Amino acid sequence: MSASLPKVELHLHLEGAAPPAFIRGLAAEKKIDISGIFDERGNYAYRDFWHFLTVYEAATAVLTTPEDYHRLTLAVLEESAASGVVYSEAFISPDFCGGRDLSAWRDYLHAIREAADLAERRHSIVLRGIVTPIRHFGPDKAKEAALCAAETAGDWLVGFGLAGDEKSGKPKDFAWSFDAAREAGLRLTCHAGEWGGPDSVRAAIRDLRVERIGHGVRAIEDLALVDEIAEAGIVLELCPGSNVALGLYKDYRSHPIDRLRERGVRVTVSTDDPPFFHTTMALEYDRLAEAFDWDDGVFHEIAKTSAEAAFCTFKTREKILKRLEKTDA
Ligand code: ADE
Ligand code: ZN
Repeated sequence: MSASLPKVELHLHLEGAAPPAFIRGLAAEKKIDISGIFDERGNYAYRDFWHFLTVYEAATAVLTTPEDYHRLTLAVLEESAASGVVYSEAFISPDFCGGRDLSAWRDYLHAIREAADLAERRHSIVLRGIVTPIRHFGPDKAKEAALCAAETAGDWLVGFGLAGDEKSGKPKDFAWSFDAAREAGLRLTCHAGEWGGPDSVRAAIRDLRVERIGHGVRAIEDLALVDEIAEAGIVLELCPGSNVALGLYKDYRSHPIDRLRERGVRVTVSTDDPPFFHTTMALEYDRLAEAFDWDDGVFHEIAKTSAEAAFCTFKTREKILKRLEKTDA
């Protein structure tokens, strides 16, 4: 059973992991009407990626206090742990947590970390954070987010990334923010090669000097780029269920994960925004096993690659690697 295989997840948006019932409950408590973002069965409803971003931001608008994020973090980690995840990195954003005000951001971060500590004691799952500004909010807001990230960088807040609409602006518009984050000791990743093609991936690598790429699947359209990624040891945070749900590929079998892996790229598996895409880490494993006939050995190798590519300290990584050696999560 795939839920019992220990897993490492590197690409998870904290708000995007909010169960719809959780968001509906908060909306009811706060008397905010967001009924339009759900379908008749209570799931999130969206037409395409760009509409998904609007629905995502509407759902996030009900998360207005550090206490909301405390509850959200606990709910998300409980679900991840049930899928066998032993270590997770979550994208969190000062845009949604306190409107990029440093003092407010510290309060949100504190609440998230407290919930993570509690979840670690309850479910033996370890969480670390990656500050992720939103690309379509523009480079100036990303700078403010980078300053929040730099001030709170450390053993828990370990990375800096960029999410949102890949068609908005160019990676180099965000170079200042990535440089500031790097100087503060943060490790770097960036969404690219999801809605943009190989050039978008090349630009993220060249202009932001990232060591991981969120998605990066469309590198497959240029095999010279795939070889460069493999050669450089850049890790792809692949989220097959997200790509299928958003219509990038028609099914798991058409997803390039297996071809990228066969060509020597360091691939990892994550869920992105699990309830939006009707997935969990356990379901990703089941669907990949079925599509590509992967056995536990392949999944073990992927979990090990993920642990090695995690942005945590050496000591935390050693602990995770030990847990991967055991068969049960
Ligand atoms: N934010 C949440 N999910 C995302 C995705 N798949 N791509 C870009 N930004 C996102
Ligand atoms: Zn993502």
